[in-house]
Amino acid sequence: MDQAQRLREYMNQLNGTKSPAKPPAASRVITITSGKGGVGKSNFTLNFALGLKAAGKRVIILDLDLSTANINILMGITPRYNLVDVLHQRQGIWDVLETGTSGIEYIAGGLEIDDLMQLDDQTTAFFANQIQELQSSTDFILIDTGAGVSKELVDIILASDETIMVTTPEPTSMADSYAVLKTVLQFTDQKPAVRLLVNRAQNYREAAETAKVLQSTCRNFLKLELKLLGSLMEDSHVRQAVRAQTPFYAAYPNSTASKSIKQIVYSYLPDLDEVSVTAAPPAGIRGFFEKIRSFGKSS
Ligand SMILES: Nc1ncnc2c1ncn2[C@@H]1O[C@H](COP(=O)(O)OP(=O)(O)OP(=O)(O)O)[C@@H](O)[C@H]1O
Ligand SMILES: [Mg+2]
Repeated sequence: MDQAQRLREYMNQLNGTKSPAKPPAASRVITITSGKGGVGKSNFTLNFALGLKAAGKRVIILDLDLSTANINILMGITPRYNLVDVLHQRQGIWDVLETGTSGIEYIAGGLEIDDLMQLDDQTTAFFANQIQELQSSTDFILIDTGAGVSKELVDIILASDETIMVTTPEPTSMADSYAVLKTVLQFTDQKPAVRLLVNRAQNYREAAETAKVLQSTCRNFLKLELKLLGSLMEDSHVRQAVRAQTPFYAAYPNSTASKSIKQIVYSYLPDLDEVSVTAAPPAGIRGFFEKIRSFGKSS
């Protein structure tokens, strides 16, 4: 600590303020989910990952969508192994990590949350150690999930450091987003950190209106504050990129969708720094799996 720093600390103490928190050591686990299927979760996850990477962050995508796991197709890769291989000690964590188009790293889940709850002590120790390796080698772990209400999804949301709820302006999508959040709150006394992403809006006005309705409904009926992460417009480049199995952020960097991703990253990262000064540090990926296991024991 140099002299100026020491002086700042001292002044802070005099003023009764804490010095700014150090960057959290644990990776932040963010679950991306939705009520209705097909609203753009996987595309958002992948392109948000690229946006974070462009901002100098290390990101790993973990695919926990069991029913329609296909983010790997968007990334142009066919995973050889998945987390079940780590559970059965057939592979180490680095063997199941694949690098997709544009250098994004990816781990296929392939496991039921129940699998984690039935582990013996020795397997748990091995798995925890492997997971621990990820903790220090990445800043963000983005979890792509399936849609719809299930206990499995509730557990994943409650074990994450934060959740991004993807919705479109369609009333069915908004209603299903609300239904998922309502169910999550039935399983906890705490307020999970949830951010809202509006996708496929025709214009910014429609996006803002969608966010406003969902935010006020959650505030009034669930006493849950949804922070607005941002919005993505309907953009034909998204479909074109899907067909080419390339992320739109890489294929069409000047598209409206890519500009929105940049804008989202631009406002999201400073917001995290602000939160980290006061809020508990993220529990990270090890904390995530420990919580999932503890839910199994208590139910
Ligand atoms: N902003 C957008 N503009 C235009 N089309 C979009 C946009 N976002 C998503 N789409 C279209 O919606 C399709 C579904 O997107 P995606 O696979 O990301 O949804 P999902 O929520 O992950 O679906 P699932 O619930 O099946 O996992 C894409 O293939 C694309 O055609
Ligand atoms: Mg998907």
